[in-house]
Amino acid sequence: MEVIIQPSEAAAATLTAKIVAHDLRANPRLVLGLATGRTMESVYRELVRRHKEEQLDFSRCATFNLDEYVGLPASDPHSYHHYMREHLFSRVNIDLLRTHLPDGAASDLDAECRHYEGLIQEAGGIDLQLLGIGRAGHIGFNEPLSALRSRTRVKALTPTTREQNATSFPSNSEVPRRAITMGVGTILDCRRCVLLATGEGKAEIIAKAVEGPITSMISATALQLHPRCTVIVDEAGAGGLKEKDYYRWIFANEPEWEGFR
Ligand code: F6R
Repeated sequence: MEVIIQPSEAAAATLTAKIVAHDLRANPRLVLGLATGRTMESVYRELVRRHKEEQLDFSRCATFNLDEYVGLPASDPHSYHHYMREHLFSRVNIDLLRTHLPDGAASDLDAECRHYEGLIQEAGGIDLQLLGIGRAGHIGFNEPLSALRSRTRVKALTPTTREQNATSFPSNSEVPRRAITMGVGTILDCRRCVLLATGEGKAEIIAKAVEGPITSMISATALQLHPRCTVIVDEAGAGGLKEKDYYRWIFANEPEWEGFR
């Protein structure tokens, strides 16, 4: 795991987008794993800007989103399908046939989860997976006690997650109770993971995810097992980390980050 501390939320999002753009230019057929949520909005804004101003080309890449609410059809304005169309898909030259999200309105949810895993396999696996983190430490919707080897499946959302996401719904009771999510094992299979967390509200959980023991109570801790995982935080999000000087030294000296500093 590597931790990169950026001076501001904007700088953290820009660096995340820069990594995506770099990998996409290196491999136009990149299989990109996507996340939704407030943190990702500025990453998608920056990717759209790079598409418009720097000809960043999405035409040959494929995408797989981490999750979707159960019960919401793609047309629902609160669905992650809708979020992705709003923030990215309708604003860049992506081939919609190559974009994938689980179908939360499928009549057979277990079959849909197996199908989604199959699609990822058929695409050759995910090259770069973007991740946010929930306040209780979830990645995707892998809520506490998610098995560290879990695959795409239906998960019940915790009260903390439903409360956290309630701001996007007209009332708390309308937040779905379940979601389809890639499993922790599915995420660990991705060739590269980039987790972005910004703001004071994420400081405590980021410290646990990066410096705490691996536990299924906090699924983000499983990323410590990943051979190529980068955690990007702003100063506020880094607030609880004990080894900040060490992380800064690595970022300043590691040749891989030349051109990103
Ligand atoms: C969303 C997802 C979640 C979010 C996390 C952070 O697709 O997988 O894990 O990334 O809940 O959400 P925000 O950014 O809204 O704090």
